[in-house]
Amino acid sequence: MSQSEANLLGNVHGGNIMKMVDDTAGVSANRFAQGPAVTAAMDEMAFLNPVRVGDVLHVSAQVNWAGTSSMEVGVRAEVDRWDAVTERVHVASAYLVFVAVDAEGGTRRVPELSIETPEERRHFREAEIRRANRLARREAIDHSRRESDEATA
Ligand SMILES: CC(C)(COP(=O)(O)OP(=O)(O)OC[C@H]1O[C@@H](n2cnc3c(N)ncnc32)[C@H](O)[C@@H]1OP(=O)(O)O)[C@@H](O)C(=O)NCCC(=O)NCCS
Repeated sequence: MSQSEANLLGNVHGGNIMKMVDDTAGVSANRFAQGPAVTAAMDEMAFLNPVRVGDVLHVSAQVNWAGTSSMEVGVRAEVDRWDAVTERVHVASAYLVFVAVDAEGGTRRVPELSIETPEERRHFREAEIRRANRLARREAIDHSRRESDEATA
């Protein structure tokens, strides 16, 4: 990570990490979807430790869950400190929703996700819980907006 990515404190700006997280998740989603997929939502981005200028950032992503056209991708960002040989430091984690789209921007089906290991099963189950929460929150907010629109009409 370079000086141009630093914030006022001299650490790397969180927005730069978020872009790399989104880019890496996009690679996973596009490969799994066998074509274009767009970011629909990003949630639970947790910054756990600062990234310093000079650190070597490693970002890894995997598809945790797939529905009809959407996928949840889990991303983990770690660094090697530039000035010490230590264990990699976990700096951030995030979950993103991608939706596979066709040439006209409409949604399209994604392949079935194959679940083989107990860890993949755990990721899938936890992603289902997050999806239910996301959809419920979106519906609750839409409902509340409809109510306030009706009250002011
Ligand atoms: C993402 C997008 C294609 C969804 O289109 P849409 O018409 O709302 O699609 P639908 O309502 O049919 O939903 C499609 C799927 O996405 C899921 N989805 C959409 N928004 C979601 C959200 N905020 N959270 C969780 N899931 C979401 C739906 O549950 C559905 O899943 P499923 O097909 O697996 O059951 C559309 O909103 C879009 O193009 N957004 C802009 C994306 C973009 O440009 N991203 C780059 C950043 S600039």
